[in-house]
Amino acid sequence: MWPFRKKQTLEESGFFRGFTDWHSHILPGVDDGVQTMEEALQILAEYERLGVKEVWLTPHIMEDIPNTTGHLQERFAQLRSAYQGKVILHLAAENMLDNLFEERLTKNDFLPIGNNGDHLLVETSYFNPPMGLRNILLRIKAKGYYPILAHPERYVYMGKNEYKQLKEMGVKFQLNLFSLKGMYGKDVKKKAKHLQKLGMYEYFGTDLHKLETLYINK
Ligand SMILES: [Fe+2]
Repeated sequence: MWPFRKKQTLEESGFFRGFTDWHSHILPGVDDGVQTMEEALQILAEYERLGVKEVWLTPHIMEDIPNTTGHLQERFAQLRSAYQGKVILHLAAENMLDNLFEERLTKNDFLPIGNNGDHLLVETSYFNPPMGLRNILLRIKAKGYYPILAHPERYVYMGKNEYKQLKEMGVKFQLNLFSLKGMYGKDVKKKAKHLQKLGMYEYFGTDLHKLETLYINK
């Protein structure tokens, strides 16, 4: 099923009723996403209106945005006390597979995603894989976590063979919904449609960084 038809708003699609957003940058002031508590609360109010049930807040952790687990937990507690609505909030992170990740893997210092606390949302650079990507993913699994790859359709270096290999390794895929809206160009949209047709996505997320994105209607 396509989440949206052409020229259809999120609201019209009804797709968000009962939806769990598995990827968002709504936790304010911690990365390149939402900056203020006010905007975070506005987005959550809009989510509630659209019928979203649960949201995973997945701020970046990477060498360029070196958020710590403790700091994100504090910020999350602030958002939780400021937000009085019905949407269920969870904290996790979007982990860039870089040197900082290696340090955190050694220390087992993570904010996992999923109700069992045994999945990790990971991303790589859009242009190049990290050295030994397969090896990193295997080490994540050896620590007892299932890797979920964020927006696989957006990695320009990945083609059919890479997707197949990752799936064979048990890596789960997460679609960025706005890839299907063409927000990242035609090639990304094409890849997303293809992967979706093959049934490769286990999770859906908005990767929302700001309120306006919700109203994109291509
Ligand atoms: Fe993201």
